[in-house]
Amino acid sequence: MEPSTVSLAGCATPLAPLGVGTWAWGDRKTWGMGGYDTSLSEATITEAWEASLDAGLTLFDTAEVYGDGESERIIGRLLAREPSRRRSLVLATKFLPSPQKLAVKGAMRAALEASLERLGVEHVDLYQIHGPISLRSKSALAEALAEVQAAGLTSAVGVSNYSIGEMTKIHAELAKRGVPLASNQVEYSLLRRRPETSGLLAACARLGVVLLAYSPIGQGRLTGKYSASKPPPGGRGFSAHPMTEVDTVVALLRRIGDERQRTPSQVALRWLIDKGAIPIPGAKTADQARENAGGLGWSLTTEELAALDEGALKGTRSLGNRFWQHG
Ligand SMILES: NC(=O)c1ccc[n+]([C@@H]2O[C@H](COP(=O)([O-])OP(=O)(O)OC[C@H]3O[C@@H](n4cnc5c(N)ncnc54)[C@H](OP(=O)(O)O)[C@@H]3O)[C@@H](O)[C@H]2O)c1
Repeated sequence: MEPSTVSLAGCATPLAPLGVGTWAWGDRKTWGMGGYDTSLSEATITEAWEASLDAGLTLFDTAEVYGDGESERIIGRLLAREPSRRRSLVLATKFLPSPQKLAVKGAMRAALEASLERLGVEHVDLYQIHGPISLRSKSALAEALAEVQAAGLTSAVGVSNYSIGEMTKIHAELAKRGVPLASNQVEYSLLRRRPETSGLLAACARLGVVLLAYSPIGQGRLTGKYSASKPPPGGRGFSAHPMTEVDTVVALLRRIGDERQRTPSQVALRWLIDKGAIPIPGAKTADQARENAGGLGWSLTTEELAALDEGALKGTRSLGNRFWQHG
């Protein structure tokens, strides 16, 4: 059975082993808010937020780039309605280390202060480097992370899309400064087992780094509502395998889910938790949030895990951006 809570090194607030991704909140191109998805509104997001909190989920993952800051602004507005919620939340956001940000120390602090302004909070719980695209050394990046942590602007620090080598280097650079690396956020799902097969998941466990699994239901593809005859809308670039291949994985999720009275999404999320990762599925509605929270509180059997391992796509092909996804 899963641990009831997980800790991020440096962060005092424990979290359930499943969080909420908020990329869709305010984003137009990929998720359609104000664009192709006319049902996605701040009212439906508010319902998703409340359903997530009611289900005991406390980790909310956002980024300065999601909807050009709109995801952070929406969370800020939600929190302003109920400031007492802040204490139990684990708010995670990200710094985009674009190669032109060469003065990374000052740039990171300014970016985090702007995120805090949008979120309406004094500090976040986890500040992550969004991708391994900076031209600066791991030492310079670690120094910048250590500075924002020492300034009390974040409790914990993390990275995203980092390979084993990149993660090990920044872990060591942070350790020199007395700062633990709390997390590495990578794409991990039954459509992309690479973090497991590459040894990244095991390396995280060795270093005490929590692996946050993004796009854990393949950007909606593993829910069962999309298929080869009904592909997902929008520009969903992660997990964009041919839907005929995805359909075989969904059929397996359905078979196992039917036996356990669980939905395909819940089985897909449970598989990640049973592997030791923390999935952060995006939820646009209360129903989606409630269904995803049903990944908690039960376990797959050894036989079910083995069948899912066998039926998963290996996900070693470079589908997304190979400059971005090293992990
Ligand atoms: N660090 C990075 O580079 C990176 C990259 C990607 C994502 N992320 C983070 O990871 C989070 C999750 O990843 P993701 O949003 O890409 O993909 P995901 O969580 O695999 O899929 C989310 C989408 O699936 C659909 N959905 C969710 N729950 C559902 C349910 N129960 N039933 C039916 N449909 C459901 C919704 O879209 P529809 O209703 O429109 O189908 C939702 O927006 C993001 O929000 C973000 O915080 C990080």
